[in-house]
This record gives sequence, structure tokens and C-alpha cells, in this order.
Amino acid sequence: MRYDVRDIKLAKSGQLRIEWAGQQMPVVSSIRDVFRRQQPLKGLRVSCCLHVTSETANLAIALKAGGADVAVCASNPLSTQDEIAAALVKHHGIPTFAIKGESSDIYYRHIKSLADREPHIVMDDGADLISTIHQKYPALAASLYGATEETTTGVVRLRSLQRQGLLQFPVIAVNDAQTKSLFDNRYGTGQSTIDGILRATNLLLAGRYVVVAGYGWCGKGVARRAQGMGAKVIVTEVDPIRALEAAMDGFEVMPMDQACRLGDLFVTVTGNTSVIRAEHFRKMKDGAIVSNAGHFNVELDLEALAKMGTLRRGVRPSVDEYRLSGSRRVYVLAEGRLVNLGAAEGHPAAVMDMSFADQALAAEYMAGNHQELRHEVYVVPVEIDRKVAQLKLRSMGLTIDRLTPHQEKYLSSWEIGT
Ligand code: NAI
Repeated sequence: MRYDVRDIKLAKSGQLRIEWAGQQMPVVSSIRDVFRRQQPLKGLRVSCCLHVTSETANLAIALKAGGADVAVCASNPLSTQDEIAAALVKHHGIPTFAIKGESSDIYYRHIKSLADREPHIVMDDGADLISTIHQKYPALAASLYGATEETTTGVVRLRSLQRQGLLQFPVIAVNDAQTKSLFDNRYGTGQSTIDGILRATNLLLAGRYVVVAGYGWCGKGVARRAQGMGAKVIVTEVDPIRALEAAMDGFEVMPMDQACRLGDLFVTVTGNTSVIRAEHFRKMKDGAIVSNAGHFNVELDLEALAKMGTLRRGVRPSVDEYRLSGSRRVYVLAEGRLVNLGAAEGHPAAVMDMSFADQALAAEYMAGNHQELRHEVYVVPVEIDRKVAQLKLRSMGLTIDRLTPHQEKYLSSWEIGT
């Protein structure tokens, strides 16, 4: 078996972590058991370009139980957990190509290793594998059933590909399932971003100004968690509706040009580029800390910061100090990459349980329905979304009311008013 991991001897500790996460993933576990009996992915090669974490390992194990020939590579150079990569190879026989801190060259070499397997189904997080197939290996599209995409930025890229008429196979936007974005993006990113910042800095949030750029699902989560720990939260936005929502949720709203003077800690979660730029770094307080939880490392203009600074040095794991003129310091966390995965472990397993249940069921759907699908970006079928919510509720021991026949009739009628 071909693979490329940092150290296969890390497998034992990785296996313990996979089991630990698995306990928090009852929905994925139940899907794995059904897959084992029904073999919906039998004989299919599935290439997963995902953050290589203990939760992803549980997804890969479920896909393999369903009969798939699974391989895994990283969807970000800094997010791999090396012990998990080793355990996937040693304990689960899953070819894995991922090393934490890999160079950009190795990152793309690993992506190529997954493309070389000529997959039937691609599972992507950020669309780097899908984009590589379109740009470098277009012939693979002929045998590809389709792909599933995990995150907002990936879906944005794929919709752009579709708009230009260039998308070569169907894609299911797993990100846009309600059981994904409402929970993973909000509660997962909210908690794990704060976790990453605290592990990196040990900062006291109470009483500090925290600036959150972007008030989408992720930004809502980060802002609310920071506020819950006593921070004074400022939100920056470009969308008037989201900005209004932030204001009525009780946050200060202002442009970055003003917020940059006040913030003690900055978190970008926009999916956009150059959100914090030279003109902002220039006005920051001494000791300001900047971080990013958006998918790509383009939200903080670190090139501009490097040009402004005379000295850069690592002062703690995941913390780089830049010294600016007038001896002011700006600290950058996790090299401007996803701070929750670079400086912590990513989302808690209990929330990835839903995202990866959506992924597993979307793969099953793709396997069964690819012939009817066009080269478009599809939403997750509503039955899958509801099924995942029902399974999650059941695993939490929660039951809900059912509509009575009288209520059903009322809701589908138009005649009855006051
Ligand atoms: P979203 O589209 O719901 O929200 C993004 C918000 O940023 C929008 O309201 C938009 O108006 C705003 N925005 C865009 N440009 C801006 C600018 N220059 N200044 C201020 N606001 C701006 O997206 P969502 O789901 O919240 O995702 C955000 C990013 O986080 C994406 O890149 C996504 O892929 C990534 N993500 C990261 C995760 C992680 O584990 N760290 C998990 C899930 C998503």
C-alpha cells in the first residue's frame, strides 16, 4: 500500500483518539453499521481530501465499511493530525497522504496521489482536489460519478465553475445542508476557534475587544462564544443584512478601518481575501493578536505585514511576533491559516457527527443516482438533512412533537382565517 505520513509509529496513539472521537459520533457509527450490511459503495474508489483529524478517520472507516476503496489526503497543509494519519494506514488499511506542516509542493503531490487513483467519488473540503482534477487531469471526469463538498469556500468556488459552464461532473454541496452549516459552521467553528486562540495564547478574553470579521454562520458562532467569555465584541461586515443582524444581536458594528484601532484580538471568518491589510496593521495597538478561521490563508495580508515588519520570530507554538516601526508588535496565530485546526484539534466530534453523516449519506446518494444528475452543484436532498437531524436527536435522547391530523390539515389549507 502506498502512503505518506510523518511517522507510522504514531499509529497507536492515533487509534486511541479515533476511538475517543467515535464515542461522540453515534450518527456516523449507526450509518457505518448500516453500510456494513448494505454495501452501498461496494467496489467504488472514494478519494477524500479532508482535514485529517480523528473525526475524518471515523468517516473514512464508515465509507470503507460500506464497501468503498477509500484513500485520504489533507485539505490544508497545517491541519493534519500526524498520529491519525498513521493510524488510518496501520490500523485501517486506508492509504493516507498527509503530513502536518507539509510544503505547498508536497500538499499538491498528495492531492495528485488521490487523483491518480481514478476515483469514482471525490469528497473535498475547499475544492482543491476538484479544482486540480479540472485543471490538470480533465480526463478523469469521464469515470467520476461526482463529488461532495464540505465547506462554504469550496461551494463558492464550485458555483463559479458551474457559472462559467466548466463543471465536469455533479457536486453535492454538503456545506449547505441545514444539519451542516447551522451546527458545524456555527457551534463547531465558534467553540474550536476560541479553543485554538486560547491554546496558542492563553489570553484572558474577559474585558478585551475582540473583532470578528464576517457575520455568517461561522462569525455568529465565534462572536457569541467570545461574548460568552466576557469579551467586548465588534463585528465588521460588507453585507447590510448580516450587519443589521449583528447589531440587533447586541454587537458593535463598524468598518475595519475603525475596529483595527480598538481590537485586542482579531478573527477573520469571511471566506474573502485581504480583509485585514497594511492600512489596518498600521493602526493596530501594540500587542494586537490576529488570527483567521476562514478556509484559506488569504484573509490576513501577511505579505504586507512582512514588508512592514523588520523582525519576525516565533514566540510560542503557533504564535509569530512581527515588530513594526516604533517598536509596536503584532502577533499572528497559526501562520494565518485556520486557527482552530492549526492551533487546536478542529471541531468537536459531536458536531462533525452531523457533517460527516451528511457526507456519508451524500456519497451513498451519489453512488445510486449519479446517472440522473447533471454537471451542477446540488443541495443535499431534504430527506437526508431531516434524517440526520432525526438520528442526532435520537442519539441525544430527545423526542419532539408530531403534527396532529387536524394541524396538518390546517397548515395545508387557505380557507380558515380568524
Ligand atoms: P458565510 O458566507 O455564511 O459568511 C461569510 C460572511 O463574511 C458573509 O456575511 C459576508 O458578507 C462576510 N464578508 C465577506 N467579505 C467581507 C469583508 N471584507 N469584511 C467583512 N465581512 C465580509 O460563510 P461561513 O459559512 O460563515 O464561512 C466563512 C469561512 O469559514 C469560509 O471560508 C468557510 O469555508 C470557512 N469555514 C471554516 C471552518 C473552520 O473549521 N475554521 C468551518 C466551516 C467553514
